[in-house]
Amino acid sequence: MSTEASALASKEFEPPVEPISKVGVIGGGTMGSGIAEVCARVGLDTVVVEVDDDAVEAARKTIENSLKKAVSRNKLPAATRDLAMSCVSFSTDMGDLADCDLAIEAVIESLEEKLSVFRAMDKVLAPNAILATNTSSIPVITLGSVTSRSDMVLGMHFFNPAPVQPLVELVRSLNTTSDTMERVDRFAVEVLGKRVIRCRDRAGFVVNRLLIPYLLDAIRMFDEGKVSAADIDSGMMYGCGHPMGPLTLCDLIGLDTVEAVADVLYEEFKGSHNAPPPLLRRMVAAGHLGRKTGRGFYEYD
Ligand code: 3HC
Repeated sequence: MSTEASALASKEFEPPVEPISKVGVIGGGTMGSGIAEVCARVGLDTVVVEVDDDAVEAARKTIENSLKKAVSRNKLPAATRDLAMSCVSFSTDMGDLADCDLAIEAVIESLEEKLSVFRAMDKVLAPNAILATNTSSIPVITLGSVTSRSDMVLGMHFFNPAPVQPLVELVRSLNTTSDTMERVDRFAVEVLGKRVIRCRDRAGFVVNRLLIPYLLDAIRMFDEGKVSAADIDSGMMYGCGHPMGPLTLCDLIGLDTVEAVADVLYEEFKGSHNAPPPLLRRMVAAGHLGRKTGRGFYEYD
């Protein structure tokens, strides 16, 4: 057989890549609703599962507002906004994930919460469905190990705001197969239009391991009281071309999330640069979590 013929023949016998046509997102907070929006914008059947009707309403509003903003900024045709809203559905019943090909967990950064979601997803989803976590810091293997399919569990870490930031970190645990990685890599790039980097299953992956110490340093500098929040932020925006300064970014991410990721980084790698500073601890204790509570380093309406 000629080289060309054998290449064609081997292509014929290549197992077809199983398409991902229905996606479940568990948790409709900032990240979960952003991820659901990304999927619905490309016409995928997308179901968001939340704990109660109020949380469902909040998730629906977040998606609607983001799509509205995208249309008003001429980033999205109105027809795509309508398509997205028609593709996304909401539920308080995990059972509605049964026919999903991929489920992405995006609940709060609490090990207990995430473990219980993974146990539930494993029971409900078909055996060939992939389970992903949007965790910023919890080991993927820890979540995979409470399921019957840790070979089909991986990290799919989106960035805030998910409809705007192109990156997805794909995190492979010691048990994740290459087939699972390949299937999700192709899905993220070819279907969602994202840019992918592959990471080891280590706290903070690539981006947070670099970003969080920088944010913590900005909080320490602010706490020393010699430079204002606005000047720290302006420094990095106008000196380094960042779209927003570190304290504004902390408010966007949520100070509770910054603290949770820092705790995990410190536990895994130690190093004073990973240790959450006292001011961050106090602000979280006070409920000043940033944009989502209306107050962080700045105030919001
Ligand atoms: N859909 C589409 N486009 C949108 C949009 C939406 N929902 N919201 C905003 N945009 C576009 C705007 O049209 C604008 O585009 P342009 O520059 O081409 O005109 C751009 O985004 C900026 O918009 P605004 O000026 O209105 O500013 P916003 O406050 O709305 O948003 C930002 C700005 C997109 C958040 C930008 O400041 C940014 O990229 N900041 C950095 C965010 C970042 O670093 N995220 C990563 C956080 S780390 C993380 O998530 C990991 C976690 O594990 C901790």
